[in-house]
Amino acid sequence: MTGTTGRVALVTGSSSGIGAATARLLAARGMRVVVNYLHSDVAADEVVAGIGAEGGHAMAVRADVREPTAVESMIERVGTAWGGVDVLVHNALTPYAIKPFRDMTWEELGGKLDDEMRAAFVVTKAVLPAMTDQGWGRIIYLGTGLSRRPREGMIALGTAKAALTQFSRYLAQELGPRGITVNVVEPGPVAETRISQVLDEQQTRRQVAATPLGRLVRPVDVAQAVAFYASEDSAFMTGSTAAVNGGMAMY
Ligand SMILES: NC(=O)c1ccc[n+]([C@@H]2O[C@H](COP(=O)([O-])OP(=O)(O)OC[C@H]3O[C@@H](n4cnc5c(N)ncnc54)[C@H](OP(=O)(O)O)[C@@H]3O)[C@@H](O)[C@H]2O)c1
Repeated sequence: MTGTTGRVALVTGSSSGIGAATARLLAARGMRVVVNYLHSDVAADEVVAGIGAEGGHAMAVRADVREPTAVESMIERVGTAWGGVDVLVHNALTPYAIKPFRDMTWEELGGKLDDEMRAAFVVTKAVLPAMTDQGWGRIIYLGTGLSRRPREGMIALGTAKAALTQFSRYLAQELGPRGITVNVVEPGPVAETRISQVLDEQQTRRQVAATPLGRLVRPVDVAQAVAFYASEDSAFMTGSTAAVNGGMAMY
């Protein structure tokens, strides 16, 4: 198989936001997509139905990405239906505290670090055997610009995602010889997501004013960068990060 058609993509946390947009786009590009989620059965089913209505292939699978047993069962179910996962998009967003360091407990900071890295560890371990056997794989993690540029209250998420980004580079180094690429997509503030709903109008206006391209990021903007990393077009890129932020931060 050389193109994307027929490849199996697992998108963790794709019942809403960026994950849902990514699931739809990868399906539109011919991949069979696993719509993973934790709580939102109805929303996940809607994503699957929407993909089906467009002639694509998708299945919803509930699994807590922090739980090895749940993730292994998900991979087994996918294996029985479609074979091994070719493309892993690890996007699921576990909860985190938004507050300054002075008010933060170790349980909050350490808990987020543990959740973030445990989930990445568990899902990556689960997809590697099939990717290794076939000598081809694409792993894409969702990072955030907050891992480079601090914003008030975001120390738990920003620090955890910085760890995830460095983890991805170590994996890129180790997995390159097996034909597996590992890259990170780092969005700026994305509209139509749960976190965007807690921004007030003034914060949104400030963010738009700081963005040369003049609007917030849309989930589909992020999905397009993920789709590039999932495709043959990025064949010689690994250990890289792509900022999708309309120029809000340049690095
Ligand atoms: N939104 C932004 O502005 C922004 C900016 C930069 C980076 N990002 C990154 O982009 C990714 C997606 O963010 P988003 O804002 O689109 O998220 P979101 O709208 O909050 O959606 C989160 C998704 O993760 C799922 N999920 C949560 N915990 C899970 C678990 N333990 N196991 C499996 N699935 C789980 C949720 O499923 P249920 O609803 O079923 O629980 C949901 O589908 C995250 O990694 C985030 O850090 C987002």
